[in-house]
Amino acid sequence: MAAIKIAIVAMNELGIIGVNGALPWRIKEEMRHFRTATDDSVVLAGSKTYFSIDKKYRPLENRVNIVLTRNSIKRPILEQEGSYACSSLEKGLELAGTFDKDKIFFIGGGMIYEQALLKNLVDELWISQVNFYVDLSDKTNKEITYFPDFPKEDWQEYDRQKRNQFEVVKYHKKIICQNVNPQ
Ligand SMILES: NC(=O)c1ccc[n+]([C@@H]2O[C@H](COP(=O)([O-])OP(=O)(O)OC[C@H]3O[C@@H](n4cnc5c(N)ncnc54)[C@H](OP(=O)(O)O)[C@@H]3O)[C@@H](O)[C@H]2O)c1
Repeated sequence: MAAIKIAIVAMNELGIIGVNGALPWRIKEEMRHFRTATDDSVVLAGSKTYFSIDKKYRPLENRVNIVLTRNSIKRPILEQEGSYACSSLEKGLELAGTFDKDKIFFIGGGMIYEQALLKNLVDELWISQVNFYVDLSDKTNKEITYFPDFPKEDWQEYDRQKRNQFEVVKYHKKIICQNVNPQ
């Protein structure tokens, strides 16, 4: 059976997912949730997200790490670390499909979520809603990354779990039934 493709993300109420190339918050329980959810799966990351992970934690263990980059200089570095480098989302997904895993996760960042959603490649969204204030008037918060806008009406919530510092909400894409043979 084909693997299910899930975008997993943590965002605040404004949809902010990153500040200055890093996660804006450090919520251990949310990191544990991410680790447990993505265990024994394939994870697909943009090169900015991958290289923002502390060297001692990458590749993410017990997961197949596929990194998207168009930069040929990064390819040998990734391969040396034990990750796979792919030059397009489609090639990344094709490779991901060869590993016989149940789940393929888009783990960000903003560019990867945006392309995967636009290209209709995401089956489910697993969103950790965190309460974390980012001061947008603070001049040191230079580079703000947002989760892309997506049509909420196309997604059906099917699970919601409250944790101490965040809430996990899961959606699957609504199946649009079309009557192809109207009477
Ligand atoms: N809150 C969360 O759950 C979460 C999750 C993940 C990331 N983040 C945050 O998101 C921010 C990073 O996001 P971002 O949008 O700036 O960068 P990103 O999506 O992580 O990576 C962008 C890079 O990926 C490569 N890339 C993108 N599309 C590609 C394609 N179609 N084919 C081949 N390569 C492609 C390019 O790498 P090259 O330049 O090497 O070619 C591009 O510069 C960070 O702040 C990070 O902490 C947050």
